[in-house]
Order: sequence, then C-alpha cells, then structure tokens
Amino acid sequence: MPKFSDASLAKVKEIIARYPEGRHKSALLPVLHMAQAEFGGWLSTETMDYVASVIGIQPIEVYEVASFYTMFELQPTGQYVLQVCHTGPCCLVGADKIIAHLESKLGIKVGDTTSDGLFTLKTVECLASCGTAPVMQLGRRYVENLTEAKLDEMIESIRGNKS
Ligand code: FES
Repeated sequence: MPKFSDASLAKVKEIIARYPEGRHKSALLPVLHMAQAEFGGWLSTETMDYVASVIGIQPIEVYEVASFYTMFELQPTGQYVLQVCHTGPCCLVGADKIIAHLESKLGIKVGDTTSDGLFTLKTVECLASCGTAPVMQLGRRYVENLTEAKLDEMIESIRGNKS
C-alpha cells in the first residue's frame, strides 16, 4: 500500500481541513495531483484506494475523477508525456498532421510509450489555448504553434540531454 511521506500527509490533511465535514471530497483533485507526483507519476488502483481512505470517501469516487481527467495517468508513462490537443480548432490548423508526425518520429502510436521509456504520446481535448493552435502540453508547460520542425528540435534536444 502506498503511503504519503509525513510532510505530504500533513499537507494533505491541511487541504482536507479547508472543507467542512461531509465535503472532504472537494480535496480530491489536489490530493490526486500530490499522489501522482509522489507515487511514480501515475495512479495505480492501490494508490487511488489509499487516497480514498485518506480523504474518507469511497474508492469508486476516486476512480470516477481520476479516469475523467486526462492529467491523471492510470498506467505508467514515459518520462515525457506529450499531450497533443485533438479538438476542432487545433485540427483545423494541422493537429492530425502533427500527431502523425510524432507517431512516425517516435515509432509509436497514440497511447503508447517509446521502448526507451522516454516518451508517451497522448491526445487530449481542448487545452484552452486555441489562439496558439496547434498546441501540446508537456509536463507543466505548453508548446504552442506546433510545427514538425519545432517538434523535431524538441525531441532531439530531450534525447541529447539523456545520452
Ligand atoms: Fe486545441 Fe483549444 S482546440 S487548444
């Protein structure tokens, strides 16, 4: 069973205490973010069950939320998760081409992870940056006005830093 560090558990309790009795479920999103960061970058069933027990809600309530939002990973990922927006406005300016290019460049399909464990490729719904489409999220930052050349440069730079 995963277990938060003492420091994280204190922070989790502080977050839960922001909400009145009976409304502790409201702490779920920030606690899931903490759990994902602390337990290997993804949320296993054991981790979600643990989060449910810490907050005092049913495991199914955690599964529902974790499986709804694309920022939560339900299986192990590569070190870099490329989340390419695949909603209308991004598609109108070439998101499909960008995704096909990434699949070819990385040698994987959407949903897969490269064999070196470096990249996972995902598609997501609108990232709320339609004005700079096509857009991709990489960790906490956005890569905007995507082009094949920009992606190639970014991927090579990441690979270069790892070798
Ligand atoms: Fe891609 Fe909005 S449609 S950011």
